[in-house]
Amino acid sequence: MPSQSLTDLRDMPLLGRGATGLVYKVTDAMVVKLACKGAEEQKDHANEQRMFEMIEENPGKIPYLIECHHRTPHVTFLQFASGGGFAVLLNKYQKRDEQNGWKVLELTQALDTQDIDRWMEQLCDVAATLERLGLAHNDIRPGNMLLDAERNLKLADLDRGTKVGEDIQVLTEPFGRLLNKSEGIDAGSYGKTGARTDIFAIGSVFYSLLRGCEPHETEYWGNNHGVILS
Ligand SMILES: Nc1ncnc2c1ncn2[C@@H]1O[C@H](COP(=O)(O)OP(=O)(O)O)[C@@H](O)[C@H]1O
Ligand SMILES: [Mg+2]
Repeated sequence: MPSQSLTDLRDMPLLGRGATGLVYKVTDAMVVKLACKGAEEQKDHANEQRMFEMIEENPGKIPYLIECHHRTPHVTFLQFASGGGFAVLLNKYQKRDEQNGWKVLELTQALDTQDIDRWMEQLCDVAATLERLGLAHNDIRPGNMLLDAERNLKLADLDRGTKVGEDIQVLTEPFGRLLNKSEGIDAGSYGKTGARTDIFAIGSVFYSLLRGCEPHETEYWGNNHGVILS
């Protein structure tokens, strides 16, 4: 484990800021994710650590999943994905409405279809491997998909992960959806986690990579846009 103190770690270059964690570069091979202050954020961070524990109960590495090197409470050392993230990659070719950042007005370039093919295969591979271990990711979307130095996928951010078959309180639209009346007793909720939820997210990722933006990002429905989307 690196010998730096937490204060030293916060002096490292900040790579990303998510809803629950701050990620700093420690070395060319390693980053550290620090849980944000707040009980919910720290619960999510602990959940991500539990997911890594369950994964490590099984022999072998999971290809295309970010590796965890070390964990202590609120602090997780991870493999550095040096190729950047899919959200940034998509954003590079999008022209957005200046007043309303939600809306994509124009796409300046499409992603290479051979790259999309490879990344989709890698995404299906990592999701299927997690499912075989009885686990669901539950937050597959471009913001949590990173690239390594060879531009291969590294799926990150396991803090919403569960065992397959658990109830999930929230998924991120349009990578998850509320069940409708025809879908039984779980109607009105996001239902139980597993292949159904992760495959829906994978479908939305496929759309995003092919079209260059997330589903509905070329539309805007006014002040209630976020509410309508969910
Ligand atoms: N292993 C990593 N290598 C490089 N950047 C990372 C890594 N993990 C996270 N990041 C960056 O930090 C951001 C937030 O990380 P994430 O795990 O999604 O945190 P949160 O749980 O708060 O959403 C990512 O979108 C990415 O930009
Ligand atoms: Mg995230």
